[in-house]
Amino acid sequence: MSENLSPIDTAKFVAAKRASEFVADGMKVGLGTGSTAAWLVRCLGERVREEGLKISGVPTSTRTAELARQVGIKVISLDEARWLDLTIDGADEFDPELNLIKGGGGALLQEKIVATASDQMIVIADVTKQVERLGAFPLPVEVIPFGWQTTKALIEETLHAMDVMGQKTTLRMNGDRPFITDEGNHILDLHLGSIGNARQLSLVLNQIPGLVENGLFIDICDIVVIGHGDGKVEVQDINTGSHEEGSIEFAESDNIFRDSAE
Ligand code: A5P
Repeated sequence: MSENLSPIDTAKFVAAKRASEFVADGMKVGLGTGSTAAWLVRCLGERVREEGLKISGVPTSTRTAELARQVGIKVISLDEARWLDLTIDGADEFDPELNLIKGGGGALLQEKIVATASDQMIVIADVTKQVERLGAFPLPVEVIPFGWQTTKALIEETLHAMDVMGQKTTLRMNGDRPFITDEGNHILDLHLGSIGNARQLSLVLNQIPGLVENGLFIDICDIVVIGHGDGKVEVQDINTGSHEEGSIEFAESDNIFRDSAE
């Protein structure tokens, strides 16, 4: 139950719970991927079951689709939805302009497509994801399997001319095999340390043949909901400049802890 949640899970849960309040009846909602987004999906499932909330969810991965169906959310494809009211997703890092690094869970391609096709994107994150400058978290990029070693070499060469601290790149593995994304591609993790100009880096990376998409989300996120281990929640809106603080009480009715296995 809630009192057994670790501080980090408490932080993820309260961010997700607060963000779930932005979802209204009739909305088409992009559902992110990762442990924080999984809390969001459970919170929305609870609202569907207990309040009769009517929403359609567009998942950003097969994992999220499976969880959404399990908790009772109607799942539709992006092609069915065409355009979304809102996407709520986690992040690996966010900076003061709410630019993000995403893709730690390997779903950055679908996540970026879905978030871009939304009127609004809300990021939910525990406070450890907040950084002054992006880049300590290795930047994931999705590359097609054909000629990936050549693509890797081209990326490394490109990085030498960019305002970044490190240039090392590694192929993400799943045991002793390369990790495969939902789109059948590989992920390269770029160990940059610090990124001087994220906007420029994102544009330059996407010019490299074989590189499908990178995990920098620039000017996509509108609101970040930051959870803390003691239940405190901050909501920052980059468009209005507003910053509010509150806290979430764990209620007996929060029965979503049963299925918290992600
Ligand atoms: C998934 O591909 C990622 O973009 C996730 O949103 C990101 O890795 C955050 O995941 P957690 O919520 O598990 O930290």
